[in-house]
Amino acid sequence: MEDTIKEIKSRVDIVNLINEYVPLTKGGKNYKGLCPFHKENTPSFMVSPELQIFKCFGCDKGGDSIRFVQEIEGLEFRQALEFLAGKAGVALKTSAFTRSPDEMKAKKILELNSLAAEYFQYILKNHKFGKKALAYLKDRDIKDAAIDIYKIGYAPNSWDGLIRFLLKRGYDISLIAASGLVVPKDNNKGFYDRFRGRLIIPLRNERGEVVGFSGRSLGASEPKYLNSPETLVFKKERFLYNLDLARSEIKKKKEAILVEGYFDAITPFQEGFKNVVASLGTSLTSGQLSLLKRFTDTLIIFYDTDTAGIEASKRALNLAQSAGMDVKVGILSDAFKDPDEAVRKDKMYFGKALESAASVYDFYFEYAKKRHNVKDALEKKKAADFLLPIISEITHTVHKAHYIKELADLLDVSEETIVQSLKKYGTNFGAGRSYSLEKKVSSPKISSQEYILALILSSPKELAQKTLYKLSSDDFTQEIANAVFVKLKDYLLSKERFLLRNFCLKLSPHENELVEKLHLMELPVLEFLEEDEAYLEKEIKKIFDIINKETLRRKMREVSYLLKQAEKRSDKRLVSELQEEFLRLSKKVTK
Ligand code: UTP
Ligand code: MN
Repeated sequence: MEDTIKEIKSRVDIVNLINEYVPLTKGGKNYKGLCPFHKENTPSFMVSPELQIFKCFGCDKGGDSIRFVQEIEGLEFRQALEFLAGKAGVALKTSAFTRSPDEMKAKKILELNSLAAEYFQYILKNHKFGKKALAYLKDRDIKDAAIDIYKIGYAPNSWDGLIRFLLKRGYDISLIAASGLVVPKDNNKGFYDRFRGRLIIPLRNERGEVVGFSGRSLGASEPKYLNSPETLVFKKERFLYNLDLARSEIKKKKEAILVEGYFDAITPFQEGFKNVVASLGTSLTSGQLSLLKRFTDTLIIFYDTDTAGIEASKRALNLAQSAGMDVKVGILSDAFKDPDEAVRKDKMYFGKALESAASVYDFYFEYAKKRHNVKDALEKKKAADFLLPIISEITHTVHKAHYIKELADLLDVSEETIVQSLKKYGTNFGAGRSYSLEKKVSSPKISSQEYILALILSSPKELAQKTLYKLSSDDFTQEIANAVFVKLKDYLLSKERFLLRNFCLKLSPHENELVEKLHLMELPVLEFLEEDEAYLEKEIKKIFDIINKETLRRKMREVSYLLKQAEKRSDKRLVSELQEEFLRLSKKVTK
């Protein structure tokens, strides 16, 4: 298996592969282009022919050619491998892919589920038992074509209609039980159908396979929606409804609409809003987000307009933002309870709400307005306490001014009052000293210690060696950077020829990650390299001086600490020694 993977990877060049999806241009040792995984106007997507890897400095996706195919085609590892094998003309031995018993069982369950969906649909469309459900769908404006696309069906009100059907088709009861379609009887003697007298919505995974079912009650019986239990093929934590139908549109539009309910996905999709997926209720999970992140990095949350929906939007917003996604929140008028209703009653309005779903700040204002009656003094304070820290984080000045005004209007106070109140929240700056390598928004920030390593990795051998000689382990306080420095010095000062790929083999996963990042990063200084190597040398010297001074200052702090200790103990000899040392260091720093 390992060998097969190696062979496939060696036959496919990652630059050619990615070029089929994204136009790449050469810049120095690497290639770059616009990232296919998130929206951007300035390229921050880099590909290294030398290491056969890619990395986006904007959304942080990265990996080898298999990873790329997984991400871009939305495939599992094994499928991506098959995909690449096809391109490389490598025959995959089936023995490399023997399936485990669980995998075989999972495949059987999928087959059984698909048959059950056909059974339910047959009843809906052709049997008199299905009439009521059909009328219900018509009433909800679900078109015939949609019934087919979503494989909607009806489970008759019978204890064993489905069981008998499946047994007749030759499936054994243990497999039927494993599918979750049936429930064991109380006396443990046999099973009965889980779904009875309900409209059936098959739950399809991102590949369109039926992994479970949801049955909507047509009358008063509870729960409103009865769902399949978790099975070998159905994991709720990682399931999004409608992703199979929406995925290509999500990629095209580079954003996904996230709704709560099945019909909030079904109706908009049927009416042409095709990039919509449902989270099945209000508790979005990180598993659902990581599934979605395979297709896009931008999310428009469109939850129900009731309080539960609003609270849930806030949670989902935070979760998605911490997963590194760009999030917008759609705001619907209270006249509609959810997207399903909005689309049915006023499709144009929904389209507009979608377009104007912009800033999360607007959402927070709406949120505060709904929760606090700002006519009341105490509530006014609460609204302010909620919104001020949010506004304080806005970095763009015009943008910030806009919301300052908005808040002033909302609370009916002067803008000056808001500006004053904002002061106590301060502005966050990242810890430590860091360098922005380029003016471009997408360029990453790195420390001086990492930057000099990046420069060394890009230098001709002699310059690299010269620089490494001058540096010492003391200069690298960051743990990973330090480890990379030590190994790099060791390797470069001994080896005849420097081969980055071989060097990477000596690194731990964390060290490797850093080196890959430094190698793939665009260093503006290198654009001049071909004309003038001296330029690079100058840059190295500049950064070396900075690092050197940082080290000296650190040492001075240590010496002054020791000095204080020695003074306390009245150790005169040590005091004078340390004073001398301190003087020597401070002269060096100011040189
Ligand atoms: P809602 O109660 O908002 O239902 O639950 P809905 O989608 O508006 O349903 P309709 O329009 O009245 O038919 C939102 C989602 O939460 C999950 C379902 O995925 C539902 O679509 N849910 C809700 C359940 O799984 N079980 C329930 O009993 C209720
Ligand atoms: Mn709803």
